[in-house]
Formats: sequence, C-alpha cells, structure tokens
Amino acid sequence: MKKETIQPAKHLTGGLDLPGDKSVSHRYAMLAALAGGASELRHFSAAADCRSTLACMSALGAGVKTDKDTVRVTGRGPHGLKSSWRALDAENSGTTMRLLAGILAGQQFSSKLTGDGSLQKRPMKRVIGPLREMGADIRARDDNFAPLEIRGAPLKAIDYKMPMASAQVKSAVLLAGLFADGVTCVTEPARTRDHTELALEEFGAAIEKDGRTIRIHGLGGANGGGKLLAKSLDVPGDLSSAVFFIAAASLFPDSNVLIHNVGLNPTRTAILDLFASMGAAIQILGLKSAHGEVVGDLAVKGASLKGGVIAGGQIPLVIDELPMLAALGPYTEEGIEIRDAAELRVKESDRIAALVENLLRMGASVEERPDGLKVEGRRAGKLRGAEIEPRGDHRIAMAFAVAGLAAKGNTMIRDADCAAVSFPTFFQELNRLAER
Ligand code: S3P
Repeated sequence: MKKETIQPAKHLTGGLDLPGDKSVSHRYAMLAALAGGASELRHFSAAADCRSTLACMSALGAGVKTDKDTVRVTGRGPHGLKSSWRALDAENSGTTMRLLAGILAGQQFSSKLTGDGSLQKRPMKRVIGPLREMGADIRARDDNFAPLEIRGAPLKAIDYKMPMASAQVKSAVLLAGLFADGVTCVTEPARTRDHTELALEEFGAAIEKDGRTIRIHGLGGANGGGKLLAKSLDVPGDLSSAVFFIAAASLFPDSNVLIHNVGLNPTRTAILDLFASMGAAIQILGLKSAHGEVVGDLAVKGASLKGGVIAGGQIPLVIDELPMLAALGPYTEEGIEIRDAAELRVKESDRIAALVENLLRMGASVEERPDGLKVEGRRAGKLRGAEIEPRGDHRIAMAFAVAGLAAKGNTMIRDADCAAVSFPTFFQELNRLAER
C-alpha cells in the first residue's frame, strides 16, 4: 500500500499524453474477442480495469498479446468462445462485469463472474433484470450481487425501456442482442456514452439509432452466419483522466498545459461545457474523427472557477467527474452543490461519503445529503493538507491529490496505488507537470 505525498504547487506546465480511454478499451477488447481473426488495438488503456477485461477474454479462449500499449486480440468468432474452468475475475471493474454478463448470457456454456470486495457490493440487478427478460439464466447473491453464475441460453430479442440512464446497462443488453433471435431495441431515458454503439458499428454489427432508441440485429445463431470483423483501431486518450489535469491546471493563474489526443465523444464532453460555464480556460484544438470517435488536443490555462449546482440530467453525463468537481469546490467562488446523484453511493466506493470524509479532513465546509453534497467555496477558507483515505477508489485518490496541490501544507494520499485502476502513471505525471 503505497503512500504519496503531494506538496503545494505554484502552477502546472507542459504537455501530457493520457492512457487510452477506459470505456472504449473495454468494448474494443470484448468485440475483438468475438470477431473472426486478429485485431490490433493501439493505445489500449493501461488501466488495471482494462487488464481485467483482457484477462477475462483470454480465459474465454481469445488470444491476447500485449506489447507496450498495443494489444493484439485473436478473436474466436461470435460462437467460438469457450467456457473458462475458473471464475472470470472482473476485479474492481463494473464495466467488465456488467458488459461481459451480456455476452455470457448468450453463450452455449456456463460461467462464473466474480470481482473484488468493492465490486461484490455493487448492484447487478440492473443487468440481471433485462438479461433475464431475454431468457438468460443468471444466479446472484441476494439476486443482486456478484459472484454471478450465468448459464448461457438461447436469447430472444426484447424491447427494453431502460428505467435508469446507464451506459453499462444499455451495453449489456446490446451485447446480449448480438446473440438474440431478432432485433433487440433499447431506449434510454437520457443520453449516455455511446461507445458500445460506435464500436459495434466498427466491428460490423447491424445497429441503428433513432433518437434515444438503439436497435441491434442478432447475428443469427451458430448457423446464422452473422459475423463481426477483426479491426485495427486506435483508442483515444481518456477524457475522464484528463479532467484531473484540467482541474489541476485551472487552480493556478500561471498554468499552461497541453493534453494531447483526448477522446471528445459528444456523449462525454458535458464536463467540458460545465468547466466552461464555471469560467475554465480550455481550448479545443485539432479536432478529428477516429473510428466513429472524436479526438482532439486540450489547451488549459489557469482560471478563477465560479462553481455552481450540478443536478438532474447533467449527472449521468458527468458521473465519473463528480469526485473531482466536488474536491474543487473549496477553491471556487460559490462552492459546488451536487444533487440527484445517489448513484455515486454505489460506485467503486460510496463516493458521497468518501468525498465528505476527506473534504472535512482538509478543513472544508461540507454538508452530506442522501443524493449528493454541498461544499462551500473559497470564502469558507483555504484547505489544509491532510491525510486522505481514498477507500480503495481511484477517482477519490486522484481528486484529493489535485486538491492537495493548492492546499496549505502537504497532503498524504494513503493507498495511492489504487489510482492504477484507471491511471497507473497519474502521480508521476502530476509531479512532472507541477512546478514547485
Ligand atoms: C461506464 C459507464 C458509467 C461510468 C463508468 C463507465 C461505461 O457507469 O460511471 O465508469 O464504460 O459504460 P454507469 O453505466 O453505471 O452509469
């Protein structure tokens, strides 16, 4: 359990390359394993979560070879996966477990899907429900928690109106839809990240979008002849990782940071609009498209952030960025209030409780609510360095490392290795860019 000490910084300067996007990497790895032949996935995420997905796909029979950040996956075709003799371990990764559940539901074999202590506490009913409607046979602890036992079965297409805005639930149903008889329809209550739809299209699946409804055609069973095509793809840099550096650079008037090659899929960029509305100085440069995804560079300078309320339909669009926004609260003019975000309580940790605990440790004025929190702005006083307990949650560790840069005195992040779940080189990069 490594500790990291964060010393106050004067500003951040320099260029930065990020790990490949975590959400995109999971999807490319899973679809490459279902495709016929060899796919090359360049700039694949270095995140431990994506390694978990690769290990699961390898245990299911796909060939996986990693060379730096390029991963070569030899797919077995949509009906060529084989059962794994040991439980598939998603470790800390909710995306691995929920998306893979959709794929495993349609196989001709049984699987056990497990995860670490945190993942075993996260709700799985949200995917078990629709997958059962499709005919899947899934058992779970208390009918909601991992380990999941999934007996593959012939699936039928359903018309699923999602009760919640979740890209993972949408993706589980769409991936199961590949193995269903007919056309599966999913309607989202609000737009969520669409990497699964884009990736399915790239790999040659028949998928259509109409507003918030997505239709996927089943591949037609073992004798149906439907195929996915092996592909050579570049994963864009992870915007959710970039956010920690956008926040850090914004804290200091003299900052000047250029983040290269960031994924700017419009279903992910609400965070940039939010930053802009708070007064952040972010410029988007060199936009281009790559395999359906949008990529560009971000130039970030220091700014005085206003703060404000984040609520309602904004929440699912910035769900992973809320820890960083909350930890910035004490540096903003008006503070930050987060509402309608009870979902934060079932992420890698109870993120509302973890944020409140650590903000209090740093001397912030903060009020905990069932569905969010309210953090007072800079009038309530400067934060002081403290010992941070991230509860094993990568985004909590990184958010407070950034908050520590502008605090009085040193901040110590306990169990800092947990940042590797999404960003193994985070502390190195933060220290490289922070001038002291
Ligand atoms: C993800 C979807 C989001 C997000 C998670 C990654 C994905 O989860 O919080 O980090 O890759 O589909 P939900 O679908 O639970 O909102």
